[in-house]
Amino acid sequence: MGFPCIGIEIAIGIGIEIDFDTDSDFDDHDHKTLRHVNYGKAILLSRFHAKRGNQKFAILGQPPSPPPTNKDTSMKIRLIATSVFASIVSSAAVAEEPVKPIRPPQTINLAQAELGKKLYFDPRLSKSGFISCNSCHNLSMGGTDNLKTSIGHNWHRGPINAPTVLNSSLNVAQFWDGRAADLKEQAGGPIANPGEMAFSHTVAVEVLESIPGYVREFTQVFGTDRIDIDKVTQAIAEFEKTLVTPNAPFDLWLLGEEDAISEQAKTGYALFKASGCVACHHGEALGGTSFQKMGLVEPYQSTSPVEGRSAVTGKDADRFMFKVPTLRNVELTYPYFHDGEAETLTEAVDVMGRLQLGKKFTEEENEQIVAFLKTLTGDQPAFVLPILPPSTDATPRPQPFSD
Ligand code: HEC
Ligand code: HEC
Repeated sequence: MGFPCIGIEIAIGIGIEIDFDTDSDFDDHDHKTLRHVNYGKAILLSRFHAKRGNQKFAILGQPPSPPPTNKDTSMKIRLIATSVFASIVSSAAVAEEPVKPIRPPQTINLAQAELGKKLYFDPRLSKSGFISCNSCHNLSMGGTDNLKTSIGHNWHRGPINAPTVLNSSLNVAQFWDGRAADLKEQAGGPIANPGEMAFSHTVAVEVLESIPGYVREFTQVFGTDRIDIDKVTQAIAEFEKTLVTPNAPFDLWLLGEEDAISEQAKTGYALFKASGCVACHHGEALGGTSFQKMGLVEPYQSTSPVEGRSAVTGKDADRFMFKVPTLRNVELTYPYFHDGEAETLTEAVDVMGRLQLGKKFTEEENEQIVAFLKTLTGDQPAFVLPILPPSTDATPRPQPFSD
């Protein structure tokens, strides 16, 4: 396996010309019908960022703009690179694996994302002036709060575990029951949820309109000084699209770096596939693509009143159907399941084996799968903490201790 690795390194060296010329088949391709060559490009892009441009990617969520290229060299490089892609792809057999490497975000509106980052961290979007999106989806902790269920306004006890925001752009729909179609629709929810940020969209907008720094930035980004909730959620969603986590050791292994993960983890992955976990946890995010019954073989016992997808569809058949959570960064996103009942990965894997597959793993097998799951931690978002524009005399005051 020595050769393909060297191949990747060579390709990285020349990758700048290849990736960032104006050819758009990387940008345009369909999520689900990736062709090999696109994988090759994905490899280069993510590795490129890892080696050279990560800072920029992490901050802005987009590749650097295309440098000027010499057409002839660019063509030659393309040919060499294509054969390198071919060898990487066939040797690692990426295309045949049910799990795919994470690709960097495809198109990001940088100005919106920068504004969205501020809003994501701004507790003034809550009634208390104390709770921001980052309170429950802490980007220093895998995009979660690491609590069984979340704490909202006035120490309100939330009914459900907070899923990670990392890679949430890859979800087929948002929330455990999929009641929001996308990130933009989702982002309006918590602001007005009495058990979370407990505000109203109208007051949130009033707060922003009273802050000249925001009015200026909204004007720059959207070309109008009229702030509304639509623009607020649009900007937050755009920021969330940048929160992908490429370069997990497992992805590097998929791409041909043999020693990126341990033998124990490799056995764990084989077991993960052979036991049938991949039926539900597959693709780039190892989840997020379907709703599945929790307790397929053996019923799930829970004291939580939450019943999943049936709350959206009204169908009895959808009781206990939940969106399959992503397993990316799962080492960071404890505790597990919609009710947060599983405190450790060992426990979660044991429950999944028994309830979903009717299989009791030995201690050794469980450790192997857990070792595999821990290789799914990728590069965490890294950026300069946003400094928020100050309130003014006209800004509605926070009400931290009101109902
Ligand atoms: C008080 C804690 C809390 C706050 C504040 C909060 N969230 Fe959440 N978030 C949750 C919980 C709990 C869920 C799961 C709710 C459910 O599925 O019913 C969730 C779900 C999500 C999801 C769906 C993820 C998935 O995989 O389905 C996204 C995205 C998200 N929140 C983003 C945000 C954004 C953006 C903000 C700020 C505008 C925010 N959240 C504020 C607790 C919070
Ligand atoms: C039939 C579909 C299905 C199969 C098969 C399956 N899972 Fe799951 N998995 C789910 C669903 C649905 C959830 C969420 C359940 C809940 O929260 O109540 C989940 C949750 C998890 C979680 C917790 C993630 C989190 O953030 O809360 C882990 C870890 C996990 N699965 C690992 C596995 C492993 C390992 C296997 C194989 C032994 C497996 N799963 C097999 C559907 C499945």
